[in-house]
Amino acid sequence: MAERFQIEEASWRDFNELRQLENECFPLDAWPFWDILGILTLPAVIHLKAVADDKMIGFVAGDVRKHEDTGWIATLAVTPAFRRTGIATALISSCEIQMNVKRVKLCVRRSNASAINLYDKLGYHNTGVWEKYYVGGEDGLILEKVLEGV
Ligand SMILES: CC(C)(COP(=O)(O)OP(=O)(O)OC[C@H]1O[C@@H](n2cnc3c(N)ncnc32)[C@H](O)[C@@H]1OP(=O)(O)O)[C@@H](O)C(=O)NCCC(=O)NCCS
Repeated sequence: MAERFQIEEASWRDFNELRQLENECFPLDAWPFWDILGILTLPAVIHLKAVADDKMIGFVAGDVRKHEDTGWIATLAVTPAFRRTGIATALISSCEIQMNVKRVKLCVRRSNASAINLYDKLGYHNTGVWEKYYVGGEDGLILEKVLEGV
């Protein structure tokens, strides 16, 4: 399965598929209409999709803040049927390269063990906590990675 996906730039044309993916992957935290449109269209946001058989099976958005030499991973999702095949790893790696910043940060639910494992494997480490940040009152862990050679 995994060897048959491609990483491509996403656009506003992917709005419906991204909305469906967000709803599927984030039952509590799916992004609202305008935020989804924003991450697909704002020039300072890197928006990449994983595609198999012409269908979006994964997505990542990276919000570039050049003045801070920092990029924030704003969202990352892979459709359940395609998980554990390296798609999130490929999306994050491509996003890190395209953001072209010194430091990448993100926020993840404290209970999201699969995502925390992924980020740990990719070299992210915990630098702080946003208490009760998420819907339902769960803390968000701030993870960070300093990119080599940037
Ligand atoms: C987290 C998520 C993006 C991972 O996507 P994925 O394509 O399955 O990740 P990968 O295949 O690249 O996994 C790479 C590594 O991450 C870790 N990992 C990923 N999913 C895991 C799981 N369910 N349990 C334990 N470790 C996991 C493993 O170390 C894995 O390597 P391995 O398969 O060789 O053991 C996906 O599960 C998802 O979309 N979850 C819902 C949305 C979400 O939580 N997004 C992140 C918000 S911060």
